[in-house]
Amino acid sequence: MVECWSKRMNFDFDTSPDRAGTDSQKWQKYAGRDILPLWVADMDFTAPPAVIAALHRRVDHGIFGYARPTASTVAAVVDALQARYGWTIDPAWIVWLPGLVCGLNITAQAFAQPGEEVLTLAPIYPPFMTAPANSGRVAVPVNLRLEAGRWEIDWAALEAAVTPRTKLFLLCNPHNPVARVWRRDELEKIAAFCARHDLVLCSDEIHCDLILDDLPHIPAALLGPEVARRSLTLMAPSKTYNVPGLGTSLAIIPDTQLRRQFVRATAGVVAEVTALGYTACEAAYRDGEPWRQALLAILRGNRDFLLEFVRRELPGVSVEAPIEATYLAWLNVRELNLPDPVAHFEAHGVGLSDGAFFGAPKGHYVRLNFGCPRATLETALQRMKSALAAH
Ligand SMILES: Cc1ncc(COP(=O)(O)O)c(C=O)c1O
Repeated sequence: MVECWSKRMNFDFDTSPDRAGTDSQKWQKYAGRDILPLWVADMDFTAPPAVIAALHRRVDHGIFGYARPTASTVAAVVDALQARYGWTIDPAWIVWLPGLVCGLNITAQAFAQPGEEVLTLAPIYPPFMTAPANSGRVAVPVNLRLEAGRWEIDWAALEAAVTPRTKLFLLCNPHNPVARVWRRDELEKIAAFCARHDLVLCSDEIHCDLILDDLPHIPAALLGPEVARRSLTLMAPSKTYNVPGLGTSLAIIPDTQLRRQFVRATAGVVAEVTALGYTACEAAYRDGEPWRQALLAILRGNRDFLLEFVRRELPGVSVEAPIEATYLAWLNVRELNLPDPVAHFEAHGVGLSDGAFFGAPKGHYVRLNFGCPRATLETALQRMKSALAAH
């Protein structure tokens, strides 16, 4: 049914152009080897037709000078945030960035001094830990706790991790890799925690348009003026519309002083967003909604298929908590007792991300990207089944 609907809308999520031999990082990793890459977080779907058409028009213009967003590009972002989250932002709050890893690095430099500490919740997308370290700041990951089938914040551990050197909290909402959508009460507690300890709150919301369950995304900055004053929100069309290679992201920073500090840290080192990036961003936010809705249906189907397959066919592998958002599954493989699960699955034709990079103990977790045609996912899961049989 989902497929009929997606076809009726003229969106094809069943086939994928051959990415082997292209500039794709995801596919180059295993060039010349029969390994299906389900690691890095980009999808094997073509971008929305509206985005591709806009890019064609922009390319046909033929001049690619230094770019600035037009009023209409800015309006597309502002309108999308208003329509989706009821968040009214002032265009002046936006700082454009060529990527959010860059944004995390700039954030660490802008809001902590060398030797000062940056809190985050682990397991976590690796740049949350490497960004502070890159500039001599100290990342302090506080482990999430699995409780009754849900990843929960360990509030006592978080409180205990604060020192006089703690300056910044890096939040990931929805949280990569555990696919958790933080609820209003949890966000309120995080905001109160940051206020109590006078921390800047950086909320990376790059996955916010990829919520699979019936849950609202609540931008942290929307909780109230006190949070907004101490927060910056990182967002991008990249994950949702599968345009990460076009390098267009934004930091939304309501407070003038905080924004100045951030912009100062970008000076001379952060590249400008490109003309094609702005074009894709505008088209995605303005005209990409029907495609996004169709995508979400496909991702829900892939997620459910994956969960059922893991449950029935992959003994020793488990998904311990609901995958509420993203196209990333956090698989517990500890029972398999493999010294290097990623190498084992690679040897059987599937390329996954090593949970150790996200701060999990070596051998305990792998992350699987299910943002691909169902046939690719099915083949990969069958290969994982064979990998278990061969173990
Ligand atoms: C939470 C999070 N932030 C940032 C990024 C990467 O952002 P960018 O490609 O814009 O550097 C990712 C990519 O997976 C991510 O999951």
